[in-house]
Amino acid sequence: MAGVTTHAGNVVLEIQGAGKRFGERQALDGLDLSLHPSEVFALLGPNGAGKTTTVNLILGFLKADAGTVRVCGVDAGADPVGARRHVAYIPEQVALYPGLSGVENLRYFTTLAGLNLSKGTARTLLAEAGLAETAYERPADSYSKGMRQKVGIAVALASRARLLLLDEPTSGLDPSAAADFSTTVRAAAERGTAILMATHDLYRVREMAGRVGVLSRGRIVEEIDPRTLDHVGLERLYIERLAGSAA
Ligand SMILES: Nc1ncnc2c1ncn2[C@@H]1O[C@H](COP(=O)(O)OP(=O)(O)OP(=O)(O)O)[C@@H](O)[C@H]1O
Ligand SMILES: [Mg+2]
Repeated sequence: MAGVTTHAGNVVLEIQGAGKRFGERQALDGLDLSLHPSEVFALLGPNGAGKTTTVNLILGFLKADAGTVRVCGVDAGADPVGARRHVAYIPEQVALYPGLSGVENLRYFTTLAGLNLSKGTARTLLAEAGLAETAYERPADSYSKGMRQKVGIAVALASRARLLLLDEPTSGLDPSAAADFSTTVRAAAERGTAILMATHDLYRVREMAGRVGVLSRGRIVEEIDPRTLDHVGLERLYIERLAGSAA
């Protein structure tokens, strides 16, 4: 597992032996994952593998039955509010106020986090998130999914979240929007944000993620450096690792 020992003491996310059961279903079963500043980790797995459950444990919306989840040293089970202070979550569909512009939405959502952004700062953050300048003052109901996600990234940048959680960030984006969004994600990582994304998108993980974990039956069964594999190799690994999986 690349990088785990070299950044000791600077861990943004540390999941150790996390387990979560729903009735008969063991959704997570001994999940281990550590993330450091500037790392982009893709949690790759089929429907039901436990991706959203992992995200919900990090956000403290669910409590693990076993193991621990820590964000910047804060136990998400014991102190979910404290842990969430370090996290920004970008859901699959970012909800914005349709009648407000991108600048107004960003200023509104950051007010909720106790910030008071000037219009100029809001525009700078939207630029850093990769939103086209022509969109800044347009009502958000004219925005595509990719544009809405960029406003979400700008909110995360404003709040200086140490960890950014993305759920299926590229599903429903056309190839050029997905490539463009990859650039935004990498730029956020270069500023020091650690990024965890849940995805099925084998073809984007190579350009977005520095680390890929294949999630099956509630644990990471293999971690790879995606640069060592081409798309065909990645697809083969994914299928082989998941063959016979009940997930
Ligand atoms: N609230 C719940 N109650 C009962 N079972 C649940 C609940 N949440 C998740 N599960 C079960 O836990 C397992 C993991 O679900 P999870 O939503 O984490 O998967 P996922 O990897 O996010 O899948 P998808 O790709 O479909 O979003 C599944 O079998 C699911 O049915
Ligand atoms: Mg899910």
